[in-house]
Amino acid sequence: VRAGVIKHSQYMEFLRSIPSIQSLPEDILSKVADVLEETHYSDCDYIIRQGATGDTFFIISEGQVKVTQQKSSNEEPEFLTTLSKGDWFGEQALKGEDVRTASVTAVGRVTCLVVDRESFMHLIGGLDDVNTNQHESEDLNAKSAAEAAFFSS
Ligand code: CMP
Repeated sequence: VRAGVIKHSQYMEFLRSIPSIQSLPEDILSKVADVLEETHYSDCDYIIRQGATGDTFFIISEGQVKVTQQKSSNEEPEFLTTLSKGDWFGEQALKGEDVRTASVTAVGRVTCLVVDRESFMHLIGGLDDVNTNQHESEDLNAKSAAEAAFFSS
C-alpha cells in the first residue's frame, strides 16, 4: 500500500510538470494517476504501428521515441519527429476514427504512462491542447515556412 502511495505522488508530481496537462484540476490529475499503467519498452520496440486500431494514450516518462509515417504503401516510412520525456502521443486514434496515423518506436529504453480510451475521454480528452491538432498545426507551420523560403529566394 505504501509503495502505491509513493508511486501515486510521483505520478502526480510528474503530471503537474507537463504543460498541456498541468491545467487539469487536482482531483482529475489524481484520477489519471490512479488509472495509468506504466509500460516499458526496449530500443526499436514498436509502441504504435501505423494503420493498427488503437485505444490508448501515451505520456513519455523516460526516454525518447521516434515518429514515422508511410504516406502510401509503396513508399518508405518518413521520419516526422522525436518526442521525449513529458511529451504525449496516441491521441489521434482516440478521436473519431480509431486508426493509428503514424508509427512510434522506442529510441533506447523508454517508459510510458498509458491511459485507456475510457479514462482518456473522461479525464484528458477535453483539454484544448490535446484537441487542437498540434501535429497538424506543426505540419502547416512547416509548410508555410517552406513556402515562405521558396517565395523569398
Ligand atoms: P495516433 O494516430 O493515435 O498514433 C500515432 C501518433 O503519432 C498520433 O496519434 C500522434 O500522437 C503522433 N503523430 C502523428 N502525426 C504526427 C506528426 N506529424 N508529428 C508528431 N507526432 C505525430
